[in-house]
Amino acid sequence: MKVIITKDYNEMSEKAFEIMAEVVKNKPDAVLGLATGSTPIGLYKNMIKDHNENGTSYKAVKTVNLDEYAGLDVTSDQSYVYFMRDNLFNHIDIDLANTNIENGKAADRKAECARYNALLETIQQDIQVLGIGSNGHIAFNEPGTPFGSVTHIVDLTESTIKDNSRLFKSIDEVPRQAFTMGLKNIMNAKKILILANGANKAKAVFGLVKGEVTENVPASILQLHPDCTLVCDEAAAELIR
Ligand code: F6R
Repeated sequence: MKVIITKDYNEMSEKAFEIMAEVVKNKPDAVLGLATGSTPIGLYKNMIKDHNENGTSYKAVKTVNLDEYAGLDVTSDQSYVYFMRDNLFNHIDIDLANTNIENGKAADRKAECARYNALLETIQQDIQVLGIGSNGHIAFNEPGTPFGSVTHIVDLTESTIKDNSRLFKSIDEVPRQAFTMGLKNIMNAKKILILANGANKAKAVFGLVKGEVTENVPASILQLHPDCTLVCDEAAAELIR
């Protein structure tokens, strides 16, 4: 795994943007695997700035997102589809028809997982952006998720519900279940770009880079990926220096 340590969040977001821009420049119809959460917002801001200033086009790009809360769709401002439009898609020239995310409102959740897995078999991510949970999760693959997992429904752990409650009016509003790409779907990406910032990620970053490869720390599987780059700030890197 390649590790790039930056002084702060802004520098992390700039480095992440450089890696993303290279992919899009070399392949204008690239498949971008995207994540939500606080961590990649700076990367998305840089993509928007570059689109506005340099005209980088996303017209031919396709996207696949990692995960979505079960029960929410674009009409909820807490949904991940809303987040992606608000933080990126509405500000670049991407065709929304080329953007993909699990349908949180699907009546048949199992069928929705099967649809998403079938889609992922037809479009391989040229790059997959990831954040990391303080418990070492990637996407919503919580500790204990099999490395061979594909898109599935998960019961969120108390730790993740607590972490994510900051974005809701109250902890009771955080959905208890979510759709998530599995670890196998993530590992299938040609390139992985994982980002982390802040001291509360330091333990998870240690597990990601230097810990034992174990299903107890889902992110540790990335040690086995042939092209994985971690970009993290000094605070998140505290235990790996
Ligand atoms: C988001 C996702 C999650 C987050 C992780 C970190 O699509 O899959 O795994 O990447 O929970 O969240 P933040 O960035 O908010 O600290």
